[in-house]
Amino acid sequence: MSELRFEGVTVRYGRALTAVDGVDLTVPAGQVVGLVGESGSGKSTLARAAVGLAEPAGGQILLNDVPLHHRPGARRPLQMVFQDPYSSLDPRMTIGDSIAEAMPRGPREPRGPSRRDEVVRLLELVGLDADRVSAYPGALSGGQRQRVAIARALAGKPEVLIADEITSALDVSIQGTVLNLVRTLQRELRLSMLFISHNLAVVRYVSDIVAVMYLGRIVEVGPARDVLGNPQHPYTKELLAAAPRRGSTALPPPDEALVADAEPADPHHPPVGCRFHPRCPIGPLIRTDREHCLTLDPTAEADHRLHRAACHHAAGVLRAVGSNPPVLMQLKEDSQ
Ligand SMILES: Nc1ncnc2c1ncn2[C@@H]1O[C@H](COP(=O)(O)OP(=O)(O)OP(=O)(O)O)[C@@H](O)[C@H]1O
Ligand SMILES: [Mg+2]
Repeated sequence: MSELRFEGVTVRYGRALTAVDGVDLTVPAGQVVGLVGESGSGKSTLARAAVGLAEPAGGQILLNDVPLHHRPGARRPLQMVFQDPYSSLDPRMTIGDSIAEAMPRGPREPRGPSRRDEVVRLLELVGLDADRVSAYPGALSGGQRQRVAIARALAGKPEVLIADEITSALDVSIQGTVLNLVRTLQRELRLSMLFISHNLAVVRYVSDIVAVMYLGRIVEVGPARDVLGNPQHPYTKELLAAAPRRGSTALPPPDEALVADAEPADPHHPPVGCRFHPRCPIGPLIRTDREHCLTLDPTAEADHRLHRAACHHAAGVLRAVGSNPPVLMQLKEDSQ
């Protein structure tokens, strides 16, 4: 089992856009970290940095305390499954060749017939019949293709699996089975996993830890039960309130409705102070006595508590504002 750790990771596109801004995040060995946040918050960019598809401009990514180096041809301990199973498989390659291609090559790796046995084993592991080995992706459904994509990722014998919206392109009817498959495999193979999804119900189902991202930063992180059951950051609360709930037709209270109309965040010009302040229902837009949110960055530095939120006014994760540097106050124990 392996631990993946992001330390102060920053990723830029060109000079103007910082998509990921000094992210600290740990995926503990054998656990699932669910990463949520609105579109454009930088979730995929963080994932791409981990697998070497995006180059960090700052910080480091460590596997078991050792910085990751992505060398061509070397075994890759991190594997990623993408959202779209229609574009992630080469339509001209059979399923078997596609999986075999992802298997590590080396003196101690299987060759010839045993390589084929390994392909069949992987197909069976993801619930596909061995006779699919010579089929082309065009003959498979979206759910079956995603199973192949998972088998391909597992062929690389990863220690960490990164799943980026792996069920969102699938029919609702098969999302559950693919999700169950990933969760079962993660447990059986004792993989560590970074699981990215818009769907909070899905994240709740698979995650041990939940991290919430907003404008390139992690604004709240903690045990899944605490973050989703007792959210501290106003943005997390907004996300949870926006998630569809059966039978709920309640309108937001007037103050919240006001900020919900605020302009969406522009990652090219992130706000100074707290990045969420232009939309915050408990911030300076509503509370004139909270001007410090306009200037003071609440990023929770050197804060190692299990459940923490980067907000000056998060209940239970309070910071004393006005002191320099801000003093962390005692976290109120979650009584649940
Ligand atoms: N290849 C790229 N070139 C330039 N900008 C990019 C590129 N990829 C992403 N971005 C920008 O970086 C920011 C973060 O994008 P990213 O795809 O990481 O967000 P995300 O959280 O995964 O969003 P979504 O939920 O829509 O998948 C966005 O502003 C996006 O427009
Ligand atoms: Mg994305």
